[in-house]
Amino acid sequence: MIARGIARVAGAGSEPMHQTGIRSRRPAGVIVVTIAAIGGAILAGSAMSQTMPPPPPPSAVRGELVAERMCRFCHQIRPGSQSDVEARAPSFEQIANTPGRDAAFLRGFTTELHLVRTIGEPPVVMPTAVLSPEARDDVIAYILKFKR
Ligand code: HEC
Repeated sequence: MIARGIARVAGAGSEPMHQTGIRSRRPAGVIVVTIAAIGGAILAGSAMSQTMPPPPPPSAVRGELVAERMCRFCHQIRPGSQSDVEARAPSFEQIANTPGRDAAFLRGFTTELHLVRTIGEPPVVMPTAVLSPEARDDVIAYILKFKR
């Protein structure tokens, strides 16, 4: 009686527990792998659907909206407009007419992080580095509109 009890406790305590330990670990691993595979498939699918249609050509019209939202704080984004703060930032017209400021230069410049000074403020990051590639090309098309 006592021996059977011990045997049952031992049986319940060691073997089955040991087995469930193994059993629960395996399916979990399979589930993780399955989820990773499904996730990967979804990511690949969405990446594919994003790269499938050719990107729209750069648009100066959309670029103007980007400039209004993200650049006019410091830049005079069109002749006659005013920046919100006094920053030592060239106007977009000046940039477009500075030798060497072609689309390739501007693309390189706008992908880099730039700390700039505005009057009375500590240096801040010019937000060009956070632009999406599309928004960047749009705003570049907009800037180059002012090339004489
Ligand atoms: C916080 C103020 C600020 C904001 C916002 C800002 N800029 Fe600037 N930007 C500057 C300053 C200041 C300079 C001059 C920096 C220098 O010469 O080192 C400058 C220079 C530039 C230049 C000139 C590069 C050259 O050497 O010809 C370009 C291009 C430019 N900015 C693009 C942009 C675009 C596009 C946006 C909006 C997405 C933007 N900036 C937003 C402050 C700003």
